[in-house]
Amino acid sequence: MHDPARPTRWATEHRTNSKNELYLELAAELDGLLSGEPDFVANAANAAAAIYHALPELNWAGFYFLRGSELVLGPFQGRPACVRIAVGKGVCGTAAEERRTILVPDVEAFPGHIACDVASRSELVVPLFAGETLLGVMDLDSPVIGRFDEADRYGCETLARVIERHLHLSGDQ
Ligand code: SME
Repeated sequence: MHDPARPTRWATEHRTNSKNELYLELAAELDGLLSGEPDFVANAANAAAAIYHALPELNWAGFYFLRGSELVLGPFQGRPACVRIAVGKGVCGTAAEERRTILVPDVEAFPGHIACDVASRSELVVPLFAGETLLGVMDLDSPVIGRFDEADRYGCETLARVIERHLHLSGDQ
């Protein structure tokens, strides 16, 4: 007999499809929201707000931008956060150093995790690039252990590709 605690194959696939659709819709929404606006801060701020309100079960969504050998807090939604993170430190600094997405199902199991909000239990950090140059990272935190899966990794990397197209650096940044 089917155990109601275990999702059926159909239910699992259906949920994944819905998640993929949500990310595709959000990517299109972000592209529209950020198009035509050249200001770096305005676009990062609107991207953080759009993501925070579109994706369920988040307690923090935002950006850290690379300044020398440090990541410095950028626009975000959520509780106030650590301002500076050295490249190589924490989940954000590791994603920046390794230039790859880091998915942490349980932050307590990630050595060196930096706890900005004690409510955060899982985390997904995606690096942002301008060509080969690292711009910074996009960071999503959730109060739910195991909130992020491979569909979220793929979806957030899709969002990152849209966002980085709209983060035009000018000389004063
Ligand atoms: N947890 C992150 C720090 C940033 S906050 O989550 C907003 C880290 O370990 O890098």
